Amino acid sequence: MTQTTIPEQMTAVILESYNGAEGLRVVQRPVPRPGPKEVLVKVAAASINPSDLMFILGQYGFKKPTPTVPGFEGSGTVVAVGESTGLMGRYLAGKRVACVTQQDGLWAEYTTTTVNYALPLDNAVSMEQGAMSVVNPLTAVALIDLAKKAGHKTVINTAAASALGLMLHRLGQQERVEVVGIVRRPEQVVYLQQRGVAHVLNSSDPDFSQQLRDLCHQHNIRLAFDAVAGDLPQQLLAAMPTHGRVTVYGGLSQQPVQVNPAALIFEDKSVDGFWLPPWLGQNNLLQNFLIWRRTQKLMLSALKTDIRQRYSLAETPQAVRDYESQMTGGKVLIVPGQ
Ligand SMILES: NC(=O)c1ccc[n+]([C@@H]2O[C@H](COP(=O)([O-])OP(=O)(O)OC[C@H]3O[C@@H](n4cnc5c(N)ncnc54)[C@H](OP(=O)(O)O)[C@@H]3O)[C@@H](O)[C@H]2O)c1
Repeated sequence: MTQTTIPEQMTAVILESYNGAEGLRVVQRPVPRPGPKEVLVKVAAASINPSDLMFILGQYGFKKPTPTVPGFEGSGTVVAVGESTGLMGRYLAGKRVACVTQQDGLWAEYTTTTVNYALPLDNAVSMEQGAMSVVNPLTAVALIDLAKKAGHKTVINTAAASALGLMLHRLGQQERVEVVGIVRRPEQVVYLQQRGVAHVLNSSDPDFSQQLRDLCHQHNIRLAFDAVAGDLPQQLLAAMPTHGRVTVYGGLSQQPVQVNPAALIFEDKSVDGFWLPPWLGQNNLLQNFLIWRRTQKLMLSALKTDIRQRYSLAETPQAVRDYESQMTGGKVLIVPGQ
């Protein structure tokens, strides 16, 4: 590994209070040192995902003591390796990696993560695409896999103009699972139609419920993936034939899931949840390695993400506000070297 000089101090974004973009501050702080089974990554790019927005508002699945560096996902180069990292640590030294961490995060010049969460990037995958190559691509693979294994030929996906929604559509085409999109604005209907999505419904249309019901019955749709929560799962359940299932994987409306118990009791319909970490946890190491290789090969096609805007670390609070104000049409990236 080429010796890289690691400075004592770095620029980082810290969350001082669980107050969204208002709680963020750009500071100088010591560069972390990799502990046992950890690597130190010099961050090239970090993404902003809905999970980051939920985290900085204190609405994610866990909280960390403040101050903490947010940013669950990004990419960079492994510049130092901690003790007890074994063969994997030696292999990763100097490598370009995608990186996820639940410790201090990636909105910083350097981050540490455990050796298992630094995933080598294919040469063809840029650092920017690499920064978005874990959370959404692996979720797309997982959801299409769940649909296929349960024998569904057509499924619904909500908030379908999202980066993940586009991946589900393209991967579904490859895997012969048609993904019907539900969006909330007419512009998003056009956006998806221009990208080849054949069936798109707008939940703001006055006759949305009827359109949804007709479509579900025509195509025998009994599985819906929902990123919105609130009353959308109930609308989906009501529209689907008996035994329909809604798998909730996001809470974009920030509302609790509301379900009419009659659908659960009398029609054998159900609602469950999906979260990527336990799905990966049920696979063995080899299976996850093969899934990773496969997603890397698809990063320039089915699993590619459009980028709408790039910001420097110092501009992170502005980047978060920009992303909150416009989530459709490409991701907002934080690029420390910019
Ligand atoms: N469970 C898991 O393991 C897992 C893993 C990956 C992703 N996810 C979830 O997948 C979803 C998509 O993520 P992404 O990174 O692909 O998102 P993204 O590219 O940032 O796009 C978000 C989309 O959601 C729409 N949206 C926002 N709030 C909405 C609401 N209240 N009702 C309807 N639509 C709304 C936005 O439309 P506007 O432009 O109209 O705001 C935008 O099209 C998120 O909920 C995320 O948390 C879950």
